[in-house]
Amino acid sequence: MRLSLLTLSIILLIESYNFSESATSECTLTGNSLENLSSILTTCKEISIVNLHVPAGETLALNAQDNTIITFQGMITFGYKEMSGFLITIRGNNITVVGAPGHLLDGDGVRWWDGLGGNGGKNKPKFIQFRLTNSIVKGLNVKNSPKHCFTITNSENVILTDITYNNLDGDTQGGHNTDAFDTSNSKNVTITNSVVFNQDDCLAINSGSGHAFTNNYCYGGHGISIGSVGGRTNNVVENILIKNNTIVNSENGVRIKTNYNTTGIVTNVTYEDITIENITDYGFLIRGDYLNGGPTGQPTRGFELSHLTFRNIRGTVQSKGTNVYILLSDGVASNWTVENIGIVGGLKRDVRCLGIPSDSNFSCEDHNGVHSPYVSFFLLSTLVFLIFLR
Ligand SMILES: *[C@@H]1O[C@H](CO)[C@@H](O)[C@H](O)[C@H]1NC(C)=O
Ligand SMILES: *[C@@H]1O[C@H](CO)[C@@H](O)[C@H](O)[C@H]1NC(C)=O
Ligand SMILES: *[C@@H]1O[C@H](CO)[C@@H](O)[C@H](O)[C@H]1NC(C)=O
Ligand SMILES: *[C@@H]1O[C@H](CO)[C@@H](O)[C@H](O)[C@H]1NC(C)=O
Ligand SMILES: *[C@@H]1O[C@H](CO)[C@@H](O)[C@H](O)[C@H]1NC(C)=O
Ligand SMILES: *[C@@H]1O[C@H](CO)[C@@H](O)[C@H](O)[C@H]1NC(C)=O
Ligand SMILES: *[C@@H]1O[C@H](CO)[C@@H](O)[C@H](O)[C@H]1NC(C)=O
Ligand SMILES: *[C@@H]1O[C@H](CO)[C@@H](O)[C@H](O)[C@H]1NC(C)=O
Ligand SMILES: *[C@@H]1O[C@H](CO)[C@@H](O)[C@H](O)[C@H]1NC(C)=O
Ligand SMILES: *[C@@H]1O[C@H](CO)[C@@H](O)[C@H](O)[C@H]1NC(C)=O
Repeated sequence: MRLSLLTLSIILLIESYNFSESATSECTLTGNSLENLSSILTTCKEISIVNLHVPAGETLALNAQDNTIITFQGMITFGYKEMSGFLITIRGNNITVVGAPGHLLDGDGVRWWDGLGGNGGKNKPKFIQFRLTNSIVKGLNVKNSPKHCFTITNSENVILTDITYNNLDGDTQGGHNTDAFDTSNSKNVTITNSVVFNQDDCLAINSGSGHAFTNNYCYGGHGISIGSVGGRTNNVVENILIKNNTIVNSENGVRIKTNYNTTGIVTNVTYEDITIENITDYGFLIRGDYLNGGPTGQPTRGFELSHLTFRNIRGTVQSKGTNVYILLSDGVASNWTVENIGIVGGLKRDVRCLGIPSDSNFSCEDHNGVHSPYVSFFLLSTLVFLIFLR
């Protein structure tokens, strides 16, 4: 009786072990090597990447056939080597990329971090590049990127949803330029329902049209940015909706930056329903003098910033920061709609309020609790005059 129970248990145990488990299927990439990748890419339309360790210096290059489903499961890790390029690239048309519950793409970025990001020190790879059309990326869980995390380029009709990018360790261990979503030269990219903890832009749109960035939470980075725009092959940003996002403990809240001495267009951009909290530098920042390595303070004239809408942007800046800062050349900006901006807390006196379209009804000075230089000059002159009279 005992013996037969034991036999039965063993049989049940063996039966419950799923021998057709994806881990052994011919469409599964697992283990410590990419040697089977090219055959998987040519034969499979449903690919599983399971507990894979990508060898140092190699790129997990998923150039998939049309209509492929790629699923990440378990732990995906990467060997360490100084390199440029990406740890992962995903390319194709009508691709579905899914993160299975419990999976993690762990860049273990601390091995590269040196506080310098893309500006020197160790040669760091970016994490993931998407060149996709008519595709969806869902549920990815990404940790500790060496530098920039998601690069979306030459893409069209793509949805990224339910993404978690947790780079919190970079706060104390030298993470720098760890942008979450960088997009350029693409059309109709939607990034939604995602959560970011990082040390640089939560979103940076360098060029492109028809994008939406909605329902996201951004913590610790540089805020939600258009730009920097200018000086690249494509210098047009248009038809962008940035709505219902929260930006916490970040350097900036909302930001548009165009590069010094370059040309381009930023048009039909809407920032709406944005909550900011505990911003260190600028709650609301638009500048036309941007230069990597330090803005020049001299905005240039090569841009058009038209049909911009800012509606319901509210929250707090630290006292050492600036609520609203706008530095544009005269005549560059036109046709702005500004409604219900309530950014408070910043007391820094170094405020510029230049180039705002005169018909926009937007008083930058009011938002900073300081008077414009002209008003200050007038008050000071009056005071001097009164003293003189005495
Ligand atoms: C066994 O694994 C295959 C491939 O992952 C899966 O399709 C199937 O549902 C699994 N069966 C059981 C009983 O878990
Ligand atoms: C490559 O695929 C073959 C056949 O499926 C398998 O026997 C081998 O273990 C795979 N190699 C690796 C490194 O996974
Ligand atoms: C896109 O791929 C899916 C499989 O992921 C397939 O069911 C669907 O028919 C494809 N759509 C088109 C338009 O080819
Ligand atoms: C934008 O992309 C999504 C996702 O592929 C698609 O459903 C939608 O139709 C596209 N919109 C336009 C205007 O092309
Ligand atoms: C706004 O985004 C949050 C997630 O950040 C979501 O919970 C909420 O439902 C969204 N609100 C609307 C109106 O879509
Ligand atoms: C402005 O952009 C929005 C997307 O945010 C789009 O729906 C709308 O059609 C665009 N307007 C024009 C005039 O192109
Ligand atoms: C502006 O850029 C042009 C080249 O595009 C260059 O010749 C010129 O020196 C630049 N001017 C300044 C002030 O940087
Ligand atoms: C605000 O940010 C500072 C760092 O700039 C941080 O020390 C502080 O804890 C934050 N406050 C809250 C309430 O999170
Ligand atoms: C603002 O945009 C409207 C609608 O596109 C246009 O009719 C108007 O001329 C523009 N005004 C300025 C000052 O550009
Ligand atoms: C302009 O601003 C004033 C004061 O904030 C407000 O009373 C008025 O309705 C605004 N006008 C428009 C057209 O937005």
